Amino acid sequence: MYAERLRPKNPSMMVGNEESRIGFLNWLKNWKKGSKPALLVGPPGTGKTTLVYAAAETLGFVVLEFNASDVRTKERLSSALLPSTHSVSVLGERLLVFLDEVDGLYARQDYGGLEFIQTFIEESNLPVVLAANVEEDERIRKLLPKCEVFAFKRVPPRLIYLYLQNLVKKEGLKISPETLQRLVEKAGGDMRAALNSLQAVLASPSTEVLEVTRDKMMSLRDALNTLFNSNDREEARRALEACDADIIEKIRAIFSSLVNSKLNSETLLKALEALSAVDELAARIKRTQEWRQLRYFHSMLAYSIFDSTPRGVVRFSQDMYPWSVQLRIWNDARVLRSIGRKLGNLLHASSTEALVIHLPYLARLLSLLDKSEVQRILRGFTYDESELRVLNKEISRFSK
Ligand SMILES: Nc1ncnc2c1ncn2[C@@H]1O[C@H](COP(=O)(O)OP(=O)(O)O)[C@@H](O)[C@H]1O
Ligand SMILES: [Mg+2]
Repeated sequence: MYAERLRPKNPSMMVGNEESRIGFLNWLKNWKKGSKPALLVGPPGTGKTTLVYAAAETLGFVVLEFNASDVRTKERLSSALLPSTHSVSVLGERLLVFLDEVDGLYARQDYGGLEFIQTFIEESNLPVVLAANVEEDERIRKLLPKCEVFAFKRVPPRLIYLYLQNLVKKEGLKISPETLQRLVEKAGGDMRAALNSLQAVLASPSTEVLEVTRDKMMSLRDALNTLFNSNDREEARRALEACDADIIEKIRAIFSSLVNSKLNSETLLKALEALSAVDELAARIKRTQEWRQLRYFHSMLAYSIFDSTPRGVVRFSQDMYPWSVQLRIWNDARVLRSIGRKLGNLLHASSTEALVIHLPYLARLLSLLDKSEVQRILRGFTYDESELRVLNKEISRFSK
C-alpha cells in the first residue's frame, strides 16, 4: 500500500523525468482553448498518473478521470461533450479530463475508441490529458502528432535508491542498505515495483526480494469484479487485498459500482449501510495511520459486500462526476449518522428518530437564536469540527 499512500502530492516531490515534469506543468499552466492535448507516455511505475494528479492539485484543477477501458467511456465522454455538462468548472474549480492507460483500451477491445478520442480531443473545451505505457503501439503513434508529448523514461536506480533511503529515514523503517540496494536493482526503474517490494520485505524480512512485484497486483477493476462475482468470502477478501489501490479509492469505486448497478433499492440500501460502516473504519485508519488494521479492513469490506449483494449483478463502474462533489455528499451523510447517534443517546431515541424527527426541530429552534448564542449552545455538546459544520448547515437552512 506504500505505493498509493506515498503518492507525492506535489510534482516537485517526484524524482526522475524532470524535463517532462516541468514541461507538463507548464502545459497545464498555460493551457487555453485550442491547445493540443497532453500525452504522457512511458513505462509503468514512472509517475505518469501521479504527475497528473499532483499537477492538478498544485494548479487548482479537479481531475475528471475516464476509464479508457470501460465500454461506457465513449457514452460518458459524449455526454461530457454536451454543452450542459460541459461546463468549465464545478463549484468554482477548474476541470481537467484525464484518460489514463489509453493503450490498454486498444489492446483489450476496440469499439471505435480511438476515433472517438480523436473527436473528443478536437472538440473539448477542457484540457485533456492522455497517458500510455507504450509508444510502439501503432495506434498510439497516430495520436502523437495531435498531442503535446511528454516522454517518461525508467527512473534511474540511483534516484530510486535516494528516494527510498529518504523514505526509510522519515518513516523510521528497518532495512539494511544491501537489501535496499538489491531491491532497487530488481525494480528495473519502476518506482511502484520498488515501493511494493520494500513493503513486502518489511512485512516479512525473510522473503527474497522479488522481481517486479506489480505483476502480481490486481487492478481495481479486476479486484472489484472478482469481489462481486466471487464464490466465497475468502476469494472476495483475497481479491481486495491483491489490489494496492488506496482504501478510500476502493470504497469509492464500490460505492459507485453499487449505485450504478441494477440492485433493487432495498438491497442497495443494505449494501450501502454495510459500506458506510467500513468507510468509518477506513477513515479511522487514515486518521490514526494504523496500517496494521488493513487486514481487518479488507475482511470487513469483502465480507460485508459479499453478504449483502447477490452474485453477478454488480459490475465495476466509476462515476464521471468529480469525486470531490460526491465526497461532500458522502461525508455529510457519515457525519449526519454520528450526529444522529449522539443526539439519539441524549434524547433516548434511536439515531434515525433523532435525525428525522428531533434534529429538524432543534435546527429550527436554534435558527431563531442569535448566532453567537447558537455556537455557545453547540459547544455544550460533544460534537466535533465536522459535526458542527454539518449542524450549522442544517441550522442555516432555516435561517432568514
Ligand atoms: N517519479 C516518482 N517519484 C516518486 N514516486 C513515484 C514516482 N513515480 C511513481 N511513484 C510512486 O509509484 C506509484 C506508481 O506511480 P504511477 O504514477 O501510478 O505510475 P504510472 O502511472 O507511470 O504507471 C505512485 O503511487 C508513487 O507512489
Ligand atoms: Mg498510471
